[in-house]
Amino acid sequence: MSNPKGVIKEAQNLMAEAFGADKAYFLTNGTTQGILAVIMSACRANEKIIIPRNVHKSVINALILSGAKPIFVKPNIDKTLGIANGVSINAIKKAINENPDAKVVFVINPTYFGVVSDLKEIVNLAHKKDMKVIVDEAHGGQFYFSKKLPFGAIEAGADVSIVSIHKTVGSLTQSSAILTKGDRVDHNRLQATLNILNSTSPSSLLLASLDVARKDIYFNGNKKINRLINMTEKAREKINQIPGVEAITEDYFKSKGEFGYDNTRIIVRFQSLELQVLKFIMN
Ligand SMILES: Cc1ncc(COP(=O)(O)O)c(C=O)c1O
Repeated sequence: MSNPKGVIKEAQNLMAEAFGADKAYFLTNGTTQGILAVIMSACRANEKIIIPRNVHKSVINALILSGAKPIFVKPNIDKTLGIANGVSINAIKKAINENPDAKVVFVINPTYFGVVSDLKEIVNLAHKKDMKVIVDEAHGGQFYFSKKLPFGAIEAGADVSIVSIHKTVGSLTQSSAILTKGDRVDHNRLQATLNILNSTSPSSLLLASLDVARKDIYFNGNKKINRLINMTEKAREKINQIPGVEAITEDYFKSKGEFGYDNTRIIVRFQSLELQVLKFIMN
């Protein structure tokens, strides 16, 4: 893992190829570890990084370890559902224009609730100012294998993506990968940082599970994901027939101005169930 040459290197190369990346790094301590390594290697102390406020706690820990200076961007807030969604192009544009010395634009794509931002445009804006784009793609590994889903971060032109292969691609819990594309990434620094954070005895079980999951999604992913999308569509229809329960759809998010949604997810709202239960008791 610290300088792979044999089968691990071969498996990492196959992972990169499957996701259309130039390089892949296997991780045995989750996307958490990948986010720490990527931010620590991309930012030195006091260098600016543009980040949305709803980041995972690993990003905040990466700020502590790297000393990078956060420029916070407010994500879109859905007051009805009580959740934070994607970031608007205007918010990113403003942050970039006000901080032309920032080194990195960090994006969560998709969010925990499956909402995606206009990543291609964000990449375009950031690269014009020579800023790197790092994407927390913890929940988006499936995007690369179906045209019915939003673009994967690497497909959208991001420099780095960190993917929880264990969450949506089927490897063992804790196994993730860093994907990189292009020449903005300092691979020596990234590998050196990973070596600080890695065990010198990474679990072979976790590494092998990454290779097996990659093989399965590469050969069978398209069929399985399209079947899953059909199943989630039917499930949403059925859920919406239950009084007081509501399955949120892509149209809902788009009507709120969000760029897109991961249709493999089912988000269920129970808020009006309370009223139904009350009605039942009162009767
Ligand atoms: C948005 C997001 N980023 C990063 C992580 C960390 O991923 P991992 O559990 O693979 O360390 C999570 C975990 O749930 C997450 O939801």
